[in-house]
Amino acid sequence: MQIPLVDAVAIQRATAVLHAGGLVALPTETVYGLAADASNEVAMRALFAAKGRPADHPVIVHIDGYDAVKDWARDVPDAAKHLARAFWPGPLTLVLKRTSRASDLVTGGQETVALRAPSHPWMRAVLHQFGGALAAPSANSFGRISPTTAQHVKDDLGEKPRGRIDLILDGGACPIGIESTIVDLSGGTPTLLRPGAILREELQRALGTEVFDAATQAPRTPGRLEKHYAPRTPLSVLAVDQLAMELSVASDTRSPRIAVLAPMHVLQACRATVILAIAAAESSDDYIRLLYTHLHRLDSSGADCLVVARPPSGPEWDAVHDRLRRAEAGAVPC
Ligand code: TXA
Ligand code: MG
Repeated sequence: MQIPLVDAVAIQRATAVLHAGGLVALPTETVYGLAADASNEVAMRALFAAKGRPADHPVIVHIDGYDAVKDWARDVPDAAKHLARAFWPGPLTLVLKRTSRASDLVTGGQETVALRAPSHPWMRAVLHQFGGALAAPSANSFGRISPTTAQHVKDDLGEKPRGRIDLILDGGACPIGIESTIVDLSGGTPTLLRPGAILREELQRALGTEVFDAATQAPRTPGRLEKHYAPRTPLSVLAVDQLAMELSVASDTRSPRIAVLAPMHVLQACRATVILAIAAAESSDDYIRLLYTHLHRLDSSGADCLVVARPPSGPEWDAVHDRLRRAEAGAVPC
């Protein structure tokens, strides 16, 4: 994946907007972030307003490197250093006990703060030139699909005066395509809060200890699951065989108009009329990189419902299953 060369003029403009308390959407290696000065209360309030995000939802503070951890976190365990050495800069977020620099606006009133040193050259250039820390949730309206291109951000939040944010930097498509892995190190045992590109196994190898999975410890029922990363159109995830069977029946005029993301062999055998058919990538890396682009396309296809073939299982697919489960939560199956 080719990342466009860093545009020095764009970085300069972004830095000026951020110093003035404005909001800038910019690429990270995972998804596009909506950045604001994490130490500026006015900017933080504008960030929550632009996203329509409830105030008790904490944001990730993006820093330039491990040296900045001490400014934001206290009683930092050795595990943080080990994980940062192994995976920073990169798609890993560490939840640690906060210092007073992390305001309630940043932490959602919790006693912990989430920190990440991203690797994307555009984000790093902005962080370096800005000289402070940037709060950056994914640059989508609250609850919607995360953006992996500048166009996704333009279509959703948009630039002022008609849109909600001050500047959108176009640094190409995000090379990973799914949000960072989040590990909570603020308690006794490292706990995986959100699966991402860095796998639990890799964390365990770097730490030499077990990493608990918050998702499997907590009861998981659809009603309790936070609806997140969701398309506007109802979405169902079906086993490949079941989907193949359903698509083998020709549609009639009363059938709902559907849009499908499924392996090529399922689409080739399809007799139903589908409004949009997208062939799913076979490798987990490609599937992850394109997942949100595909969800955005399915969602704007005009279909009555979206159907996604359940991807294979295995650790490298955990993050995909997690995001699809959230996209499906609350949806009325069709
Ligand atoms: O890859 C990413 O992490 C992207 C890019 C832009 O860096 N950011 C991102 O931010 O996904 P956001 O705001 O969409 O998701 C942040 C997640 C939320 O699920 C939030 O609950 C969790 O991080 N989080 C933030 N602070 C936390 C804390 N103190 N304790 C537990 N979870 C926290
Ligand atoms: Mg998000």
